[in-house]
Amino acid sequence: MIGKREVIVLFAALSFYSVKVYAAENSPEPREPYNDRYCTTCHGTDGRGNYGIKAPRLAGMEPWYLKRQLENFRAGIRGTHSSDREGIAMQPMAVKLSDSSITDIISWVGSWDYVATEITIEGSESLGQQLYTQCASCHGANGEGNEALGAPALRGQNDWYLATQLRNFIEGWRGSHPQDSFGQQMILMAQSLQNDDGIMNVVSYINTLSRD
Ligand code: HEC
Ligand code: HEC
Repeated sequence: MIGKREVIVLFAALSFYSVKVYAAENSPEPREPYNDRYCTTCHGTDGRGNYGIKAPRLAGMEPWYLKRQLENFRAGIRGTHSSDREGIAMQPMAVKLSDSSITDIISWVGSWDYVATEITIEGSESLGQQLYTQCASCHGANGEGNEALGAPALRGQNDWYLATQLRNFIEGWRGSHPQDSFGQQMILMAQSLQNDDGIMNVVSYINTLSRD
């Protein structure tokens, strides 16, 4: 004899199963990034960066920095200021990522060969060198980055992207989220460059720092 209790248990088990099947078929699971061109559509072949979309180089990026940026975008700590056009383009891409997708992406990105960046920005390297002395305390004398301070490598990144980020920090379009403790440090630093000449000069000096 099947009692009322058994019927309820059976019904509960069946509905749990069908909810699971439904969820598996319909959930917005992140697309496995390495199965298609999910990231490279914007970030360029082998993650070399794409000026047209203003999506920076990912190849060669430190795993800890890549992780933090993806988590910040996902949490809306970055890419949610209404004037941050490029950040707003990126933010929804990260929202779809699970922790395990982020882990996969880190090893995927690590498998790309680094190809030297094209230089697009010109300024006074000597004035830039003077400006860079204050940057070196966090980003390293050779722009190699410093994990303990949370400051990423700057050498080898697309120069137009570095310039955009410095402008975004100055405007507070990046780094002003109350939970963005790393970004907040950069706002004051970027403001010390004062104007676009300062940005162009310091970036042209960073261009001289060789990656290898
Ligand atoms: C629709 C185009 C688009 C797609 C798709 C996209 N991105 Fe982005 N991504 C951007 C843009 C534009 C930026 C620059 C944001 C800015 O200027 O702040 C960016 C920035 C980033 C940054 C910040 C880099 C830095 O130096 O701070 C990371 C990391 C990143 N993307 C990783 C990814 C990964 C991984 C994927 C795939 C899961 C992906 N992106 C998919 C457009 C895209
Ligand atoms: C007090 C330490 C510190 C100093 C000094 C500093 N930075 Fe940073 N910088 C950081 C940190 C931390 C980040 C990462 C912010 C984040 O996680 O979003 C960063 C990020 C950046 C970025 C964004 C890189 C990317 O891939 O998105 C640029 C560009 C940058 N810094 C340039 C500079 C320049 C140029 C100077 C000197 C004028 C400078 N920084 C001085 C700590 C510092």
